Amino acid sequence: MTAITIDQNLISQTKEAILEAGKIIIRNWDKPRQIRHKGRIDLVTDTDLAVEDKLKSSLKDILPQATFLAEESANQTKPGNLTWIIDPLDGTTNFAHRIPFVAISVALWAENSVLMGFVHLPILEEMFWAAHNKGAFLKDQKISVSTTSELEQSLVATGFPYSVREDIDEIMNYLKKVLVSSRGVRRPGSAAIDLAYVACGRYDAFYELNLKPWDTAAGLLLVQEAGGKVSTFSGKPYTPGNRQILATNGYVHQAMIDILNFRSCES
Ligand code: IPD
Ligand code: CA
Ligand code: CA
Repeated sequence: MTAITIDQNLISQTKEAILEAGKIIIRNWDKPRQIRHKGRIDLVTDTDLAVEDKLKSSLKDILPQATFLAEESANQTKPGNLTWIIDPLDGTTNFAHRIPFVAISVALWAENSVLMGFVHLPILEEMFWAAHNKGAFLKDQKISVSTTSELEQSLVATGFPYSVREDIDEIMNYLKKVLVSSRGVRRPGSAAIDLAYVACGRYDAFYELNLKPWDTAAGLLLVQEAGGKVSTFSGKPYTPGNRQILATNGYVHQAMIDILNFRSCES
């Protein structure tokens, strides 16, 4: 049994832990990076590891009974009953190149849903957070998705997975369709921020392939609590770990599904 109450105290303690961990990214920003390759273009820095360690030790004190699914120490991708799902640095390639679009993503998962989600941008000084049935916020201000109802007027974000070589045709096919149907496409390099930006109405939609639970768990709740919709490309309910994610303001959701599934455009 993992019954847990999401109260103001738990939210504040978690925020405090994330803000503290964010100071590591701020302190290391002007220092040389120690970069290792996890894959051909998949990087990890000493900062990713330090932030993850810091978060694990402070979140353990807050909820000793919870387990962790954290990117740099995970050996599988399934969360347990009560689990902190953590991406210590979403946007590692941005961090490596000193592009300030980097975030810490932390979600508390219990019995198949996200109870709290936090996306903190330490360099740009924005903390997005949401709690189940309590709404979504940027700092202390309630946020909501945009009201754009036409795809032609929608700004859409996406990302390219590290499997870009294996999935290039599929990626380009989706990109082509969305590019010609929307106001524009952005690829900022952090899925957690992309989802937070849908939640606060800066983007109208976001889609990507092959994301991991730590990229999307917090952002999923942000979008839902801000009044948006999250699904697979065919409209099935999205669960962290699914291969496809489509998050929108709700108004352009069906139009995005239609575009992503439109066959005659495929090359
Ligand atoms: C990546 C970012 C990027 C997305 C990649 C992710 P990382 O996470 O979210 O936007 O396109 O698929 O893996 O490696 O920077 O934590
Ligand atoms: Ca990530
Ligand atoms: Ca990461």
